[in-house]
Amino acid sequence: MKQINLNLPENFSLLIVKQNTINGYVYETLNSTNSQAWQLIQQNIKPPFFVIAKQQTAGKGQRGNIWSSPLGGLYLSIVLEVRLSIKNMSHLILFSVSGIVTELRKFDIPVQIKWLNDLILDRKKLGGILLEIKTDKEIIKEVVIGIGINYENQIPDNGINLINYCQKTNNFRIKSIENLAEIVTLGIINGYQEYLNLGIDYVIDKYNNLMYNLHEKISIEQVQGKIIGIDSQGNLQVKITSSGASSKISFSAQNYSLSYDKSLENCYQLTEKK
Ligand code: BTN
Repeated sequence: MKQINLNLPENFSLLIVKQNTINGYVYETLNSTNSQAWQLIQQNIKPPFFVIAKQQTAGKGQRGNIWSSPLGGLYLSIVLEVRLSIKNMSHLILFSVSGIVTELRKFDIPVQIKWLNDLILDRKKLGGILLEIKTDKEIIKEVVIGIGINYENQIPDNGINLINYCQKTNNFRIKSIENLAEIVTLGIINGYQEYLNLGIDYVIDKYNNLMYNLHEKISIEQVQGKIIGIDSQGNLQVKITSSGASSKISFSAQNYSLSYDKSLENCYQLTEKK
């Protein structure tokens, strides 16, 4: 394991980070950076800090899936100490995703968000986020924000990696995987600062503007609608119009997921999770 420091830009407020650096722990191989982050907390390492592995043997994905984690990908977990009602757990996801996307866009990478926590580039999955929390009587005390981004690793058909995209577009502004880790970490810290300073409405506005399927058509079983954004709990809001009247319906990410519906051109499908 190698210990490194990430220096934060001068203009960072000292609200979350008492000094202007964040400690990081870099490993060759881990089963999961999220699991290692919890172990370090148990060993009394104080947040904020981050954990990176060059590869993972049991990377954890959303909905209990395995996150394939060969060499060449970014596997990063950022640990923050927070004080937040469990009811607002989704706020952590919303500021993290919009923070990362905003920071990547500063490097001319036009990443977008697929509800709820997927990073999309060129209509393909670039990466995803998996959040784990520790609570004490309904209050979230610590959060581990795990991020997996395809950098130069092999990817499945529906994926894209950053290096391929950058070569195709002649954009060499992100210099290395270490540089990417820095950008993502700053994105999350920035997202958290914005949430604390400006509130959830600001974060939601930002998230909605970065959504790649905003205003697009959606089908829910036999019904058709249009995605109009998310609400303050991260629920997907859909406008449904039938026989001249329209209504707004919210869908929670816990119960529904969004996929591209190949049979209906340019239309997304909202399906109930089993
Ligand atoms: C997804 O399924 O879209 C989320 C994937 C999150 C993977 C990352 S890789 C770093 C961190 N450690 C893990 O075990 N999982 C997350």
